[in-house]
Amino acid sequence: MVETILDELKRYVGFGPADEGELRALDAVGQTEYQRISEVFYERILAHEGARKALEGGESQVGHLKHTLVEWMGQLFRGPWDEPYFEMRERIGRKHVAIALPQHYMFGAMNILRQELNGVVDRTYWQDPERLRAARVAVGKILDLELAVMLHTYREDLLSQQARAERLSTFGQLIGSIGHELRNPLGVMESSLYIVKGRVVDDERAQKHLDRIGEQIGIANAIIKDLLDMIRDRPLATSRLCLLDVLQSAANQLHLAVSLEAIADLPEVEGDASQLRQVFVNLLDNATHAAGPEGWIRVEGAVEDGVIALAVEDSGKGVDESIRRRLFEPLVTTKQKGIGLGLALVKRIVERHRGTIAHEPRDHGARFVVRLPRA
Ligand code: HEM
Repeated sequence: MVETILDELKRYVGFGPADEGELRALDAVGQTEYQRISEVFYERILAHEGARKALEGGESQVGHLKHTLVEWMGQLFRGPWDEPYFEMRERIGRKHVAIALPQHYMFGAMNILRQELNGVVDRTYWQDPERLRAARVAVGKILDLELAVMLHTYREDLLSQQARAERLSTFGQLIGSIGHELRNPLGVMESSLYIVKGRVVDDERAQKHLDRIGEQIGIANAIIKDLLDMIRDRPLATSRLCLLDVLQSAANQLHLAVSLEAIADLPEVEGDASQLRQVFVNLLDNATHAAGPEGWIRVEGAVEDGVIALAVEDSGKGVDESIRRRLFEPLVTTKQKGIGLGLALVKRIVERHRGTIAHEPRDHGARFVVRLPRA
């Protein structure tokens, strides 16, 4: 029979029936202390400036987590330490991975639990050194097992990220070569179109259709450009930039009248003018589609903790809840004619400028905030 990961981990730390017995025997005393230990645990996490950041949900979340940690300790001592136990622990591990909790925080956290639980052992068996030793060994083993399960979930996550990166890189290469190959035929179509147009100057309908072909060739070229920009990572040609210029040039490119508020006095940024213009062309273009001909678009600037924030808002109906989480992934779109590269490209460019982009939902309409470090 194939050994499960749990069995393998148990064999590795040498966790067996004798340890199980020791843990069960400790639960009765432990129960009187789990609540206190849970308080100590979160007090210590909150006292650390880095670890505290993971607890963004504030007091109510900490209250809930204290409760779940009490349950966790009960299960730790009562078992059974079987497959469902392992799956439950993996689920907890995946929650930590999902909130991007750095894995090195697990060691310090486990150490707090180790000290406190060893305290329980010491107080229970202080008159019986042999029993004390056996119980300490059992606690040590189960906590190592827990750490191993936690790190196992981090490793699994890393492996799946690697697999995804590999898939994307193969996909990227494929897109790159298709993009290049399509450029030539499109170029030929464009020049032939030009020649044919000159020959049918008197035929209005033919001219109209040729214009439509020309328009579609333009769209196909733009898609290829976006695709190639997306995979190519052109080096940044940086200089000090005034954001008002960048935004005005983006609005001009789209022939848009946009209300720009509190932008003129923003500090300068260090960046690539044409790539940052692309960021705002894409955001403003999306906003125009969302707002429609009757709607409005505005861009508002602010400085938050030394970081420059530019919020692009529109009066459209906002981003559908079902795609919010995947909004910045390639090939996710709500536009009928789009292929979903605009926001992925925006994210890529902004991050290459050491900035961030976030969708911050409002009651009505969408709001995208680009944050960039000041020069
Ligand atoms: C090594 C010891 C740790 C144990 C035993 C532990 C245990 C748990 C448990 C039982 C849950 C509840 C999972 C659920 O809702 O099903 C949880 C969630 C969570 N833990 Fe930990 N934890 C540990 C370390 C940490 C550290 C060091 C931090 C922060 C610095 C942390 C932050 C969180 C947060 C924020 C959640 C909520 C995640 C969510 O619901 O999205 N944990 N943890």
